Amino acid sequence: MRTCAGKYTDFKNALCTAPLLNKAECLSIACRSIAVCYSDWIIFKFLTKLKLSSRIKGAVLDLFNLPITTRKHLLNLGLCLALIWGVYDALMGPDLVSDLRDFTGRYGAYLLLISLLVTPLSQRWRWVKRHLAMRRNIGVWGFIYAALHVLIWIMLEFFYDWSLMLDEIAGNLFILLGIFAFLLLLPLALTSTHKAIKYLGYRKWQLLHTLTYVAIPAVIAHHFMAQKTATLEPLLMGLVLFLVLVWRYRHVR
Ligand code: HEM
Repeated sequence: MRTCAGKYTDFKNALCTAPLLNKAECLSIACRSIAVCYSDWIIFKFLTKLKLSSRIKGAVLDLFNLPITTRKHLLNLGLCLALIWGVYDALMGPDLVSDLRDFTGRYGAYLLLISLLVTPLSQRWRWVKRHLAMRRNIGVWGFIYAALHVLIWIMLEFFYDWSLMLDEIAGNLFILLGIFAFLLLLPLALTSTHKAIKYLGYRKWQLLHTLTYVAIPAVIAHHFMAQKTATLEPLLMGLVLFLVLVWRYRHVR
């Protein structure tokens, strides 16, 4: 394949060796050369992209083949870096406290919902099934983000002014739903270790963890009520949650 530089030299030579060319011919040669260079560039980009995408695909497949503990460590590292990125982004933004509060609240809600989705999706796709053991990590990270969201509210928004907080909470359904969700998530996070499962016994532990099906709807209702206009996202999350609950109902009966 001729390079763009080669075609450009051809174009220059054509202009120099044919001084009798009129303006229209010059323009036509210029346009054709640009078109050819551009099409070459597109093909070149497409080919490198193809190669790159197959490399990325290979890398992703390699990731899936890593031992489960390594994949868990990678997930922890990724979510830790995401948190650092969120803090950095908030520091650069105009309103540090509300940016931090919204970032942690929103990503906490995503992670909690994803942790619920893993089981139903694992029945449909084998590659999700291979990550079933990571469900607990996702849930715990969801709780960590949610706990930071609550701490930011207490520490940075109200500066530990408990009486002002009580005034805010009183009769505020939106805040009450948040507190309700947080109180339900707390025992789930505390019993997320192997030791706790052993101590409680699997049946009791499983029963306790059905609380997620109450806590996450409360989180999504809280998210919905936090929005003044942009309600599409919590509504979509509500729809996903509804589908998960239907799936649960059909598979638990
Ligand atoms: C003590 C409990 C909680 C309190 C006091 C609280 C407080 C708040 C406040 C003040 C807002 C901002 C509303 C606004 O923009 O006007 C908010 C938004 C939000 N909260 Fe909470 N929250 C609590 C628990 C939770 C929990 C457990 C979650 C779960 C992850 C959560 C997820 C969210 C989400 C997703 C938003 C919307 C963020 C956005 O607009 O981008 N909250 N919360």
